Amino acid sequence: MGAIMKRVEATTEKQDILCAETPAGPVSLVVFGASGDLACRKLYPSLYELYRRELMPSGFYVLGCGRSELSDDRFRDMVEESLENAGIENAQGFHDFLGRFYYESGHYNDTAFYTRIREKCIVLDNLYNLDGCRIFYLSLPPFLYTTVTEKLREVQLACPAATGRMQTIRLIVEKPFGTDLRTAKDLDDHLHRCFDESQIYRIDHYLGKETIQNLMVFRFANSIFEPLWNRTFIDHVQITIAESVGVEHRAGYYDQSGALRDMFQNHLLQMVALVAMEPPAAFEADSVRDEKAKLLRSIRPFTPDRIPLEVVAGQYGPGTVGSQQYPGYRDEAEVNPSSQTETFVAAKLTVDNWRWKDVPFYLRTGKRLARKLTEIVIVFKHIPHSMFANAGLDEFEPNRLRFQIQPDEGIYLSLQAKRPGSKLCMSGLKLAVDYQKLFEMKMPEAYQRLLLDCMTGDQMLFTRQDSIMLSWQLIQPIFDYWAENHKNLCVYPAGTSCVSCAEELMEKEGRKWTIL
Ligand code: BG6
Repeated sequence: MGAIMKRVEATTEKQDILCAETPAGPVSLVVFGASGDLACRKLYPSLYELYRRELMPSGFYVLGCGRSELSDDRFRDMVEESLENAGIENAQGFHDFLGRFYYESGHYNDTAFYTRIREKCIVLDNLYNLDGCRIFYLSLPPFLYTTVTEKLREVQLACPAATGRMQTIRLIVEKPFGTDLRTAKDLDDHLHRCFDESQIYRIDHYLGKETIQNLMVFRFANSIFEPLWNRTFIDHVQITIAESVGVEHRAGYYDQSGALRDMFQNHLLQMVALVAMEPPAAFEADSVRDEKAKLLRSIRPFTPDRIPLEVVAGQYGPGTVGSQQYPGYRDEAEVNPSSQTETFVAAKLTVDNWRWKDVPFYLRTGKRLARKLTEIVIVFKHIPHSMFANAGLDEFEPNRLRFQIQPDEGIYLSLQAKRPGSKLCMSGLKLAVDYQKLFEMKMPEAYQRLLLDCMTGDQMLFTRQDSIMLSWQLIQPIFDYWAENHKNLCVYPAGTSCVSCAEELMEKEGRKWTIL
């Protein structure tokens, strides 16, 4: 039956809006890799937004650190440029904001660099009368994490007691946290020699996205969905992170990494955890992270007999995205021409617990696909019996609840409804909530949330050590299998909306992916 999709607008009422936000207390932010791409594209614009929203304290400064030799003034020009690139121009408080940026240059393995940082921090703490929290942000290639944290420890910047007035020291690190189970464990052991787990904020930027944060509110602030959220009503769950971009300028990293490490080990598994975990005891960091870890522990390990049946990998060949022609992955600059790196991966996960027994979770992610789309689709079971079968109307689609994480953030529930007119005529109907329209705002950048949470000491949206290890443990057998057996890469044309090996993974179980 041809489905007619209707939009049903949602509304909020002013008195229904309940908000809680904690502004940051006095803080100094020491950014390593301060002139790098991540800092300029994400950190400085996000910090400015927090400042504009009056969520930054009157006492704060940023000390940029890096190899490039820059004066404070030149660094401020760079920060200004990064704000302009983010569309923020000479806005409110610009001068005051930029005046709080300072710079120190040096080599990452030179102890004297860190001694200078310590001295500069002492001067700036006095200038801003700071007696609160210091955050070290490693916006660096991961191979430098151990060097920098070790040096911070050596000059006693990692340890609160030794820093005099500063009471709280925190460390922000970006993924990847290792490249496999062993290296992740080594990195973790190292970080814990220098910092306590309560000081470590591991960023998975997906957790800062508004629509991902909404999963917990949606599930645990509404009474109508939770009773359905189990094997009795749900047939399966699909999670997709599709990108239209290729490897871009990151081939050096990506060719060593691939989709399983780059997207699956972190973003996809974190999304599974949020969709499938039990209700946490409280909306509080460790309660939530306990439940996520428990869920990850319940995922059935991949064994060599299951891997070829339940995990597929692909690599993009030449093709077109929109009207633009693109080369295949192996022809991209700096990619090994015989590379076996997967740019696409899909897998079926089985969760061995009471709630999810026999409910498969299908996950897929890839680059150079038809479009950018991140979504979670909960596919409910078919109705147990159709009383419309006698009228020949029993082929309708099961209900689907779709969280569109990005772009065009929204929530959609598909239903069957009677069309006016004929005695019996059914239409697929879609209840739609369009976030941007409804809340009349652009979705805030994930880094705003993550920076503010780190400044206020809330680790809820940061990945804890146990989750990281559990995720690596889960996928390590896949790497081992690929190392010992031929990695069967299915080649897909750039711009495709359907990767054949992933389609087969679902089709053999009588299911279909949503269309990209
Ligand atoms: C990063 C990956 O973690 O996420 C990139 O390393 C990927 O390869 C990016 O492109 C996608 O993030 P977003 O927010 O654009 O979906």
